[in-house]
Amino acid sequence: MGKFVLFLITLIILMVALLLGGLFFDKASQIPTIKDGWFGRGKKKPVDESVVPFTVNITDDVLKDLQTRLENVRLSEDLENVKFQYGFQVKYMKEVLDYWKNNYSWRESEEILNQFSHFKTNIEGIDVHFIHVKPKRSTGKATRALLLTHGWPGSVFEFYKLLPMLTDPISHGGSEEDAFEVICPSIPGYGFSEAAHQPGMNTLAVGRIFVKLMARLGHESFYLQGGDWGAIISIIIAQAYPDVEGGLESSEYLVLYTKANPFALNDSPVGLAAYIMEKFGAWTNLELHLNSIDGAITEKFTLDELLTNVMIYWTTGSIGSSVRLYKESLAGHEEVEAWESVQVTVPTSLAAFPNDIYLVPRAIAEVRFKNIVQYSMMPRGGHFAALEEPRLLADDLIAFVKIVENK
Ligand SMILES: *[C@@H]1O[C@H](CO)[C@@H](O)[C@H](O)[C@H]1NC(C)=O
Ligand SMILES: *[C@@H]1O[C@H](CO)[C@@H](O)[C@H](O)[C@H]1NC(C)=O
Repeated sequence: MGKFVLFLITLIILMVALLLGGLFFDKASQIPTIKDGWFGRGKKKPVDESVVPFTVNITDDVLKDLQTRLENVRLSEDLENVKFQYGFQVKYMKEVLDYWKNNYSWRESEEILNQFSHFKTNIEGIDVHFIHVKPKRSTGKATRALLLTHGWPGSVFEFYKLLPMLTDPISHGGSEEDAFEVICPSIPGYGFSEAAHQPGMNTLAVGRIFVKLMARLGHESFYLQGGDWGAIISIIIAQAYPDVEGGLESSEYLVLYTKANPFALNDSPVGLAAYIMEKFGAWTNLELHLNSIDGAITEKFTLDELLTNVMIYWTTGSIGSSVRLYKESLAGHEEVEAWESVQVTVPTSLAAFPNDIYLVPRAIAEVRFKNIVQYSMMPRGGHFAALEEPRLLADDLIAFVKIVENK
């Protein structure tokens, strides 16, 4: 059966589901209440709310241990005459491994990561990590804050090319009044944010924690942007706190459910790299990925970029806690499900990147998003749009904000 037919069936099921959802739950009065949460160790207690500067600086021990594991890797054998249709090719993994051991420098990547200011602050019992970049030049106007949220299996590193475009537009062919103050947190359990010690860290809890973070930084009103989990978290913030934000820009709003064995992946850097890098190939250009001997993973990203993202998961041991967000948020979780039918009323912009894993036509999006002021069919790009096509995304975001602020 063709993939197209499968796609059509999925689309029809999705349309019916959304339309039924729209018919039965079309009432703003059904907004659920938001409870408070505690995810620290032990019983709830007061936390230190200070915001503390943070530097990415992994210990030598972790890097030595990694080198040993890379030296002692146990690889299997490829099928003959296949490309990435059968998954990550061992032949190509040998090249990646060679590069990782002999050419890639985590210390250099740390310097790149540390070019922006990082902080941590304790919210609901866990240390939340975030990058905070203020506009390079002050326009004298009140700052326009933007909360950028990454997804899985990405990290804050996805935004490294986008950040300068948004915070220093004048150096990137834009004008001063387009500047944002950007706050870019790691989702709890991802990278440098502490993982929850208690169950229940779902998308609503992440959204609530991020709203508290923004308030702690003095922002009662802000824009939101995200793809993958970042989109879902941004949407739930827009639903649960409709007075809080200026607008929502989402690059897409559905994720694929993924089956993983993350506890194995935390033990094998090569397994982790294969698992994560495969997504950067497949979700960026599936056809090309399947029909290339290297999975086309370096078509749009460099090995350094891909390895840095993998290293953020490896050095923090966070692959297990990262995929827990799927368990906590999908299927049968009443707290999150209650929000699915709540409409989004804030000004919304949707950016559809043609190679993404799911494209949501505007007509379907309108069932849920009641105030779409911009819907952009992008000329190119896939799931990791911020890292792949930062200029397109920055321009789209800036255009959206112009529409919202000129109203
Ligand atoms: C990282 O930590 C080491 C050991 O504590 C220290 O010598 C080094 O200066 C730190 N690097 C950065 C960039 O903070
Ligand atoms: C990796 O490093 C080796 C030795 O320094 C060098 O010869 C090689 O060209 C490098 N490979 C890549 C892909 O940069």
